[in-house]
Amino acid sequence: MSIQRKSWIILLCLLAGLSSQAQQVISYHEHIAPIILHNCTPCHRDQGGAPFALTTYDEVARRGPFIQYVTEKGNMPPWKPNPEYRHFVGEKVLSKEELQLIVSWVEQGMPKGKRKPKKKPLVLLPAEPLPDMVLKMKAPVRIPGNNQSTYICYKIPYELPADTFGAAIRFVPGNKQLAHHASCQLFALAEGADPVSSPDFFYYTDSTRIDDAHDFSFFNMVGKDGRYPEETLHFGWLPGSSVQEYGKGIGYRIPRKGVLLIRNYHYGPTPIAQEDQAEVHFFFAKEKVSRMIQFAAFKPKRLFSDSTEWKIPADSMVEHWVKVKFHDRISLIAINPHMHLLGRYVKVYVVTPSQDTIPLIEIKDWDFNWQDFYRFQTMVDIPKGSILYAKGIFDNTAANIRNPFRPPQPVYFERGMDDTDEMLRLVLLYLPYKEGDETLSLE
Ligand code: HEC
Repeated sequence: MSIQRKSWIILLCLLAGLSSQAQQVISYHEHIAPIILHNCTPCHRDQGGAPFALTTYDEVARRGPFIQYVTEKGNMPPWKPNPEYRHFVGEKVLSKEELQLIVSWVEQGMPKGKRKPKKKPLVLLPAEPLPDMVLKMKAPVRIPGNNQSTYICYKIPYELPADTFGAAIRFVPGNKQLAHHASCQLFALAEGADPVSSPDFFYYTDSTRIDDAHDFSFFNMVGKDGRYPEETLHFGWLPGSSVQEYGKGIGYRIPRKGVLLIRNYHYGPTPIAQEDQAEVHFFFAKEKVSRMIQFAAFKPKRLFSDSTEWKIPADSMVEHWVKVKFHDRISLIAINPHMHLLGRYVKVYVVTPSQDTIPLIEIKDWDFNWQDFYRFQTMVDIPKGSILYAKGIFDNTAANIRNPFRPPQPVYFERGMDDTDEMLRLVLLYLPYKEGDETLSLE
């Protein structure tokens, strides 16, 4: 066969392949349901955090074109970390093929198709476990209808018969539509503290900054000799986070007498007043907890020795770094970078004493509304003497659509205004290193 003839045949085969692909019917049951159930339903279901359910054909088809729009734009599923830099547990990213399937399905008028009778129905969502202890806000909190974000700090004291260990924890907002994020901390009370008699909560007015001195005294959490309560757990919640667990044998202490603080609890703007009554579910450890989860928060030290204030001038784009040296070998479990509205980019990595670089997280399009404690797939071994670098880029120009000031104003770091203040913070969940940690799955 001549070369020319051969290439004709190849071309014909290619054309045939293309046209059969174009005619292929993309159906809900065969192609779309697996994508939706894996990437959307964990949030888009009852109690899932999203405002509407995507669990059945009707629910998905009703919003077909809208689903195409939000997935093509990359707004949904909301997964911020760059998957090419580092994978995390629960990663939700649509592939090019999956995106194309959604487009074709919508173009074809959203055929339902048949579920293959032999195929087992997709069971992706395990039954929700029942909590051992629920701490619920005493009464609903009013969210004013002023079209502005509302922030509260809420205190829930409790008492157990004895010190207990927790293996997992879950935050459940009462108002799924408005709840945006919360930072929760569990404290063991210092002798002489009496939080029960203090008010249940306050609205942040001119500051959303977490301020221990203020909050502990407001809630009567300061002990006799001026002692602060001891923190035994710190965890963050955002829409879509479900139960937070740490792995076999890893947990946290639930002190016999303690206080749960829900801090920096953020509600989105609403034109009419609404309410929220959140609860926190504690799952006691069924097995022995031999390793207590540790956490550490870092923020940049002042970088400019010649200035007393750390600011981002109006109409400028600046870069700030956090640099931390590890004095012990640790096993990293999860990471939570935090910036405010001017934050555009964050990247965190570690350089070991032997000059290896360990990538931890990169978020190329920072969004204040989507933050999480990202859990590594296996623990990350950080050798003693390593240096962690976190780079944050802040955009204080008018081109940043989230810039809270029009025209831009100078913005200061952690000076204590609103979320119009800026931050670059990093929270790490970790354990002291133990032989074999780096192979332990955290899935
Ligand atoms: C991590 C949880 C989470 C996942 C996963 C998720 N969503 Fe959402 N989704 C939300 C929340 C919360 C909202 C409402 C808040 C908002 O608009 O940002 C929302 C809003 C939406 C909206 C309305 C957007 C708008 O502008 O009003 C659509 C459509 C949507 N999601 C589709 C999807 C699809 C399709 C997927 C999967 C490919 C998906 N979502 C995955 C949590 C999630």
